[in-house]
Amino acid sequence: MTPLGRQRPALVTSLPGPASSAWIDRLAARECPAITARRARRAAVLGAADDDPIVWEQAVGANVVDVDGNVLVDMTAGFGVASVGHRNPAVVAAGAAQLAHLPHAMGDAFPDPVRIRLLERLAALSGMDRAILGSSGSDAVEAALKTARIATGRDGVLTFSGSYHGLSYGALSVTRYKAGAFRAPFAGQLSDHTIAADFGGALPDLSEIGAVIVEPIQGRGGVRVPPAGWLAGLIDAAHAAGAVVIFDEIYTGFGRTGHWLALQSPALRGRRPDLVCIGKGMAGGYPISACLGTAAVMDAWGASKGEALHTQTFLGNPVGCAMALACIDELEVLLPQVAKKGAALRASLEATGLTVRGVGMLLGVVIDESLAVSRGLMKRGYIALPAGESAEVIALTPPLMIDPDQLDGFCAALAEVRTELSV
Ligand SMILES: Cc1ncc(COP(=O)(O)O)c(C=O)c1O
Repeated sequence: MTPLGRQRPALVTSLPGPASSAWIDRLAARECPAITARRARRAAVLGAADDDPIVWEQAVGANVVDVDGNVLVDMTAGFGVASVGHRNPAVVAAGAAQLAHLPHAMGDAFPDPVRIRLLERLAALSGMDRAILGSSGSDAVEAALKTARIATGRDGVLTFSGSYHGLSYGALSVTRYKAGAFRAPFAGQLSDHTIAADFGGALPDLSEIGAVIVEPIQGRGGVRVPPAGWLAGLIDAAHAAGAVVIFDEIYTGFGRTGHWLALQSPALRGRRPDLVCIGKGMAGGYPISACLGTAAVMDAWGASKGEALHTQTFLGNPVGCAMALACIDELEVLLPQVAKKGAALRASLEATGLTVRGVGMLLGVVIDESLAVSRGLMKRGYIALPAGESAEVIALTPPLMIDPDQLDGFCAALAEVRTELSV
């Protein structure tokens, strides 16, 4: 029998099942209502379609098992985190060993060898000299914005339409994805030093700009790939104006596009950003992130004078660092397969008349009624979410280890859903 992790869906209840619904009731009583989308209570009253979330019990490889015992296939890798597969045994073993040995060191005060090994490995794979570690993607973005400010002495930041850089205040100030929804309630408290240009379009005057922040491929913004040559031109223009270029590779990094980082794509013809943010897939499920940078830019911070100007309680947490090191080992094996596997998935989808955008295993299927399509897929045991300003794509970022048979099953399920919905 195919091992869990590489199985096609096996559903034992309709979704969400009764155990999921019971947990969602308990969640509803105790979690801020703005966090988890829930509709079942209303549906139970009205008898309408129930599209509450399922509640995850465990996840292995490309499979998720919910609290009702349904086995699903995760085409999101849990927001792009489980690139090496959920509960990757080598990553879990590294985390467990570290947990038993030294679960916490002391941020900027007392480091530990695992953090130092990770910093060395990150430098080797990225070509960037230095790093600031963090816990979330937003942390990495904040560290990059601060570094650019320190390095250039300029307040101005250029960001792009459709961008998603996280929701903490600094990151939100440069996020433009669904501007009204995410920014409007806090607009009065956000930095007014930020200007936005069209992603892939003409650039404004950069003379007052200290940082240009860009996703090489926009993820949540709808898997948008900029026109050929645009990123290279952006780097040239920013550098000519004395601005620092930040690549936000929180989605594209750690193997998703078939390179360690998208900045290694030949399309950049050797150009490099000054700072790179990574997170998500970095440790296979442990919250850790990094802002990587060149010595020229990072060293502008100067030496710590005893109390670090930028730090966190959990900076460089040893468990996260150990898991990230194991994750890098795993990715070394998976990386060479990404382009081929992504191309095969893309070809299967395009063969059915669909338009697919993206690179490697970061793909967006352009489709009408993406929300209904996502629900239809879910009912067949495939987890895939809409993305884009107008939810114009279904984003596909499965674990890189996903079995080709699971991808075939997904394509067949999508074909069924399209027939059912006539899209
Ligand atoms: C490109 C990009 N940057 C930043 C973030 C924010 O990361 P986090 O949610 O870990 O703060 C995300 C999250 O989706 C992202 O896709």
